Amino acid sequence: MAEGVEGRAGEGARGRADGGVKGAGRVFGIDLGTTYSAIAYIDETGRPTVCRNDTNSEITPSVVQFETPTNVVVGESAKQSAFIDADSVVSLIKRQMGENKEYEFHGKIYTPESISALILRRLAADAASYTDGPVEQVVITVPAYFGARQKEATNKAGLIAGLDVVGILPEPVAAAVHYDLTKGGADKTVLVYDLGGGTFDTTVIQVGASEITVICTDGDTNLGGADWDARLRDHLLERFVAQARPAESPEDDAEFLQEVANKAEEVKKQLSVQESRPVQLRFAGAAARIEVSRAEFETMTVDLLDRTIEIVRRTLTTLGERAPDATIDEVLLVGGSTRMPMVAARLTKEFGWDPRLHDPELAVARGAAIFALSRVVYTMQQEAKENAGSQADAERAAAQVVTDVARQYGLSEQTVKQLSSKKTRSVLPKAFGVKLLDLSNRDRYYIKHLAFANDPLPTGDRTFTAKTIHHAQTEVLIELYEQAGTVVSEELSANNPLSDGSGRITGIPPQPVGQLANIDIVMSIDEDGLLQLRATERSTGKHLVITVTIGLSAEQLGLAIDAVSTISVSS
Ligand SMILES: Nc1ncnc2c1ncn2[C@@H]1O[C@H](COP(=O)(O)OP(=O)(O)OP(=O)(O)O)[C@@H](O)[C@H]1O
Ligand SMILES: [Mg+2]
Repeated sequence: MAEGVEGRAGEGARGRADGGVKGAGRVFGIDLGTTYSAIAYIDETGRPTVCRNDTNSEITPSVVQFETPTNVVVGESAKQSAFIDADSVVSLIKRQMGENKEYEFHGKIYTPESISALILRRLAADAASYTDGPVEQVVITVPAYFGARQKEATNKAGLIAGLDVVGILPEPVAAAVHYDLTKGGADKTVLVYDLGGGTFDTTVIQVGASEITVICTDGDTNLGGADWDARLRDHLLERFVAQARPAESPEDDAEFLQEVANKAEEVKKQLSVQESRPVQLRFAGAAARIEVSRAEFETMTVDLLDRTIEIVRRTLTTLGERAPDATIDEVLLVGGSTRMPMVAARLTKEFGWDPRLHDPELAVARGAAIFALSRVVYTMQQEAKENAGSQADAERAAAQVVTDVARQYGLSEQTVKQLSSKKTRSVLPKAFGVKLLDLSNRDRYYIKHLAFANDPLPTGDRTFTAKTIHHAQTEVLIELYEQAGTVVSEELSANNPLSDGSGRITGIPPQPVGQLANIDIVMSIDEDGLLQLRATERSTGKHLVITVTIGLSAEQLGLAIDAVSTISVSS
């Protein structure tokens, strides 16, 4: 476990926090990871600081154990029960975000959103005790390649946990924000290679004097350290059976599987610094000592690494199309799995780069904390400016916000100004479009995309005019879809419908034979990647507005909040 990259004893930090603004609200940045999560805030010296949990660690396993009907356990001890208590433990829930899945524990139904909410509650409780103040406003990070469904699910997890989610931020952008604060300087084009526990993404970001701008992003939400662990686990089991020849099959023994899983992750981490490690295993009276070398480990996982390299290549191709003059000045490695030497070595071999590790486990949480503060300042300044009568008034109001925020969070005005001076601009990770009938083949529907992957956000208005299908048609159904895979395709099966992403325009006057009604569609996507669509029937002006709220409906959300808020969360 990566402890204390910039660590200090919990008590010392707590003492200092008290000296600042005891009990005052702060804003927090949360890295809700597939395998480990972290929560950070800007301390009174202006540094992004990661809160330690009650076992004094800066990272908390994202593992939930449904212990009793009224208590769940989140963190290390839940992780240690993952195999032993397989029926009551959920790991890697981030991989299910945005999916319509349900889990049942002790007669209650949970969704990926509500299980993530339990992790968020654990983090919020630890942060509250670490900073001795309430935790309300938060920014939660997501992989750059998360689509709208997954982002909205993450937003809802925050709501279910009772948090005020002031922003959803792509993880590589958070890492770049932190990089900029610690190592910034001249304008640079940075490639972030982020290999965490469950997801991989690669993002090219321009870090400039006033803006941090994403140029393009790509990734795989199902590729991470957990896959390397699984390979090593299978290898150890196979070798154990071959070497020790146990009388019973170990595959059915949960406790033994747990032990092998723990050892696999431990040995994987050791192999990042050592060339070879022995693993001692004992089961049903049989024992074996299995030596695993780094070279062997690299061979058994090379196809996983290949997949990341292929995505990097695709990203560079996109970069060539989007910004032909851009050159990569710096390659940042974030995510705990980039500690494996094979990652940097391979990037050097393939691309001639000299990548550097950038606080792999904590940069995202720290960057999110910086962004959270700047988001609060920005929102308050926008509101103040809207109410101002003149330009001078607006400037005074903006300056007052800096003073107010500085006082509220116990920071210097200089710190608030510095941390909130940069704008961040992201891109759309996946294409969006509407479903249309193919008029040349009336059995076929297809997706007409209006916005594409890597379009800068906000997109501005994207317009398109559709037509009714029959002359006597009096209503139309508008349905929104998001690209499902890595490559855009108009085939229906290559796109996912957005729940709540559809609606009807009714009462259209029947058109004379030979004529069809025109439906004008305007779609726009805001800077957080959330979408709005307006469809208007031209002759009557009748219209439909769809603001996509993906995932749980309002009613399901209410039920989830009730269910989760009555449960106690312990560590
Ligand atoms: N020294 C190390 N060598 C190899 N792997 C490591 C090392 N330290 C941590 N890891 C691995 O890094 C992963 C955790 O990294 P991190 O905390 O960045 O991921 P995450 O935030 O949980 O996942 P994601 O970003 O994919 O949602 C785990 O798979 C862990 O085993
Ligand atoms: Mg991560």
